[in-house]
Amino acid sequence: MLDNKKILLCVTGGIAVYKAVALVSKLAQAGADVRVIMTDSAMEFVTPLSFQAMSRNDVYTNTFDEKDSRVIAHIDLADWADLVIVAPATANVIGKLANGIADDMVTTTLLATTAEVWIAPAMNVHMYENKAVVRNIARLHEDGYRFIEPSEGFLACGYVGKGRLEEPEKIVALVQDRFQQQPSLPLAGKKVVVTAGPTRERIDPVRYVSNFSTGKMGYAMAEAAAALGADTVLISGPVGLAKPAGIRVVDVESAAEMFEAVKSEYEDAYMVIKSAAVADYRPKDIHPQKMKKQSGDSIIELERTVDILKTLGEMKADQLLVGFAAETQHAVDYGKGKLKSKNLDYIIVNDVTDPEAGFGKDTNVVTLLSRKGLNRPFQAMPKKELATVLLKTIMREESDTIHDR
Ligand code: CTP
Repeated sequence: MLDNKKILLCVTGGIAVYKAVALVSKLAQAGADVRVIMTDSAMEFVTPLSFQAMSRNDVYTNTFDEKDSRVIAHIDLADWADLVIVAPATANVIGKLANGIADDMVTTTLLATTAEVWIAPAMNVHMYENKAVVRNIARLHEDGYRFIEPSEGFLACGYVGKGRLEEPEKIVALVQDRFQQQPSLPLAGKKVVVTAGPTRERIDPVRYVSNFSTGKMGYAMAEAAAALGADTVLISGPVGLAKPAGIRVVDVESAAEMFEAVKSEYEDAYMVIKSAAVADYRPKDIHPQKMKKQSGDSIIELERTVDILKTLGEMKADQLLVGFAAETQHAVDYGKGKLKSKNLDYIIVNDVTDPEAGFGKDTNVVTLLSRKGLNRPFQAMPKKELATVLLKTIMREESDTIHDR
């Protein structure tokens, strides 16, 4: 299944090096062409001969030991690889990589490659939880490296905890998944439901309660999702925007109608993005005839509409829920509250009083918050561009850590 796939394994020094030998064996059995680089510390545990025998390739250990005078080995290997795996990855190599240090064959190659790099840490649990290591891992996540989280169990040092190199079989399965699926677009084959625009809550046949939402941000989100390959459904309140091509649009008017439409699309949705500005209240009674003016003031009694997003949060299986929060003050704090109270995975908060944000504008200024603690402000940009950046950031967050689901 891995025929013609070129995998470069960087082995650094920890007791789990013996598992890396098994990993090379299994990758080679699956058809991959595997090349191995070892650090000096790795060679304290296992000699290069084991890796050479398993990979049927020369093993690289020294930046200056150029085996082929026609090429520079670390650049050649860096360019050759389809995928680079660092396993086991010590706290030391993680620290070096996070800081751009290149002082041996492994780290020079890692800095030189443009291939995807997966890092499989293995170390003592206290080292793994050490603040510097946590910081370095977070930095590498931000830089686009992907991690194969260590598993929990008995560690060679005698501790029980998180720090065991993931089992070679599981790493091979992840590699196979990676090459099998390799979707050209991050949302290919996934259903994304987007709600947009205001809702209108009728008072009588000629009047309604609504808000200033124009649907621009929601339409931009739907178009961005479709461009990223999603099977997109746009549930739209009344807006004056043209229907985007290639997107199924469901028109609704009231919060109750929007709720029904979203519910019927929810079960097989991968992600629901609730950009709509749903009315929180509606007239308690809809007058069947036009209300005639009376002398003096008039009172319209309002009742709460259903909180669609909160209800979706309660019904949630494995859908990703993305909310919006329009605020006029304390935007991030209120956003955090809504993220939690509505059981969301992400919330996009904006202060609608910002001159470059808000209803009807073509630009927006937002902060993306996640359940896992992401707090990323974005500078002002056109809503269409922002929508793509937000979706790509979310997809990146979702794929950053490879979980064995
Ligand atoms: N939302 C919803 N149903 C409602 C009200 C809001 O699904 N009846 C969703 C919106 O689509 C948005 C998120 O909840 O994604 C937050 O909406 P917002 O108007 O900012 O907040 P509210 O929950 O209405 O809270 P408040 O009005 O108190 O700020």
